[in-house]
Amino acid sequence: MKNASIGAFDSGLGGLTVVSQIHNYLPNESIVYFGDTGRVPYGSRSNETIIRYAKQDINFLKSNNVKLIVAACGTVSSVASSAADGLDVPYVEVVTPASKMAAECTKNGKIGVIGTAATIASNSYKNKILSINDAFTVYQYACPLFVPFVESGFVSPDDELVIGIVKRYVEPLIKDGVDTLILGCTHYPILAPAIQKVLGDGVKLINTGEAAAIEIKRILTENDMLADKAGESHFFVSDTTQTFIKTSEVLLGKTLDFDVKKIDIEKY
Ligand code: DGL
Repeated sequence: MKNASIGAFDSGLGGLTVVSQIHNYLPNESIVYFGDTGRVPYGSRSNETIIRYAKQDINFLKSNNVKLIVAACGTVSSVASSAADGLDVPYVEVVTPASKMAAECTKNGKIGVIGTAATIASNSYKNKILSINDAFTVYQYACPLFVPFVESGFVSPDDELVIGIVKRYVEPLIKDGVDTLILGCTHYPILAPAIQKVLGDGVKLINTGEAAAIEIKRILTENDMLADKAGESHFFVSDTTQTFIKTSEVLLGKTLDFDVKKIDIEKY
């Protein structure tokens, strides 16, 4: 079991930001990743649909005998925790670890949250942060165009179009005076250089993937489940693999040294 993979899933490419943080914090761990590229985005759908998709994603990962599952998706973490009911391996979502990290980080008690429409409507981060300290003020904004931008590879901080859309969504946070901002969707760290450029260096950006990776490390360590030798990672998508490979290479800035397979997620 120790050397079984960690399962991670997202609606598309965004979860790769979580995968890269798991690689940073846990270099021995192998990963089975599923990106639901055929049904992205999740964030503009109803909670019922997101829960149904998340159940299928989890079933697929379970069929690969993973030792832990991470919902590498802010939207699933916010509205579809019930999809993991009855799971017999540890399940990690990103809202709790990222909220804790933001609460530890803020100096002025003003925390911003950006995410998909479903995530912001759920108040998941806001409720979690206020349960840690109800004296904090939380400012939330949905940024529905960020996911299609990232999925299309429009992410450069030198691109006027990218800066224009980032300004449109995050400029209100400057007026709000936040000193900490949770990138509440796992796609958003890919836009972090553009977001930081608009907000300035005085705002600390919280990467949900990093917070989740630290939590995974804690769980695996406490349960004596850390891999003791390096393993191979495997990547799966529900639509054409070529777009996933090309865009991942643009986003990660390197040639991928793994292959990507297409699966029929409706079978799970
Ligand atoms: N990466 C996702 C999230 O963290 C999914 C966004 C979407 O599919 O709308 O919310």
